[in-house]
Amino acid sequence: MPPLPPAAFPTARFRRMRATPALRGLMRENTLSVDDLIWPVFVMEGADAEVPVASMPGVSRLSVDRVVGAARMAADLGIPAICLFPYIEQDRKTEDCAEAWDADNLSNRAIRAIKAAVPEIAVMTDIALDPYNINGHDGYVVDGQILNDETVEALVKMALAQADAGADILGPSDMMDGRIGAIRAALESHGHRNVTILSYAAKYASAFYGPFRDAVGASGALKGDKNTYQMDPGNSDEALRLVARDLSEGADMVMVKPGMPYLDICRRVKDRFGVPTYAYQVSGEYAMIRGAGLNGWVDGEKVMMESLLAFKRAGCDGILTYFAPDAARLLRDRG
Ligand code: PBG
Repeated sequence: MPPLPPAAFPTARFRRMRATPALRGLMRENTLSVDDLIWPVFVMEGADAEVPVASMPGVSRLSVDRVVGAARMAADLGIPAICLFPYIEQDRKTEDCAEAWDADNLSNRAIRAIKAAVPEIAVMTDIALDPYNINGHDGYVVDGQILNDETVEALVKMALAQADAGADILGPSDMMDGRIGAIRAALESHGHRNVTILSYAAKYASAFYGPFRDAVGASGALKGDKNTYQMDPGNSDEALRLVARDLSEGADMVMVKPGMPYLDICRRVKDRFGVPTYAYQVSGEYAMIRGAGLNGWVDGEKVMMESLLAFKRAGCDGILTYFAPDAARLLRDRG
């Protein structure tokens, strides 16, 4: 607990320290830096092409060559990492999801292209079957059940293919039990000792993912909901148990997702474990802030920066955010 005010009014006047920008700067406890940003981008087939995502104004799916250009731009802005999400054509989605671990799938081609052209940016991936699954689920579906252990075997193959392609950070977002341990063991035995894992440890079954599912073309495919594997929004202690479990299995970093509605979870995770902790400001959060900004209902830039700073105050070491380039430009221009 913070100490009580040292003295009563008027001996203590808090407004003294808020009187000028200089004094406010001196006592500011948390700041946002470009080092805190991970930029999620959507990749699609094609060349020199992009398709805007209707529910995420300002965000487009990009062909691999344009993703390389985006990575160049991000690196030049000082953004440390980019996170790839593939838009898979309908005819590549199957029940066995074999495309997910194809060495030359869209995502793995994008990883290679970025690492060849922009080696200094860290490339993060997504590990889950949903873009490749005819059912739109993150795991195998048999008789209406999402299978855990069989899915983990597929996720391990996916992880190895991504590591082989040169990924720096693997992001298992599937919420199957035991996947971190299985992936870590496979990385060790296949010579990928230094590939890091950012576990989506506390990922909630959230309606805030809606625009993302449009962006990756999974909205139509998804049958039912993800409530049997993603967390119940009412839970908090469970998040700590999941983080402890994923750390014990070999995660280097942990994530809370969504972000803004779950800042309490970020704070509990950071206080309890003191490990590298990230939040994902997800598509629905982006859409709300961007949409309200474009309508003139809020000052979009200010709300964006305030929302990102809030993650730092909540204890996060970094934020996955679709605002990354916009925020990086503002940080640069403000000096
Ligand atoms: C799927 C995945 C999702 C997101 C990241 N990976 C959606 C889901 O779980 O349905 C959401 C990201 C966002 O909403 O911005 N494994």
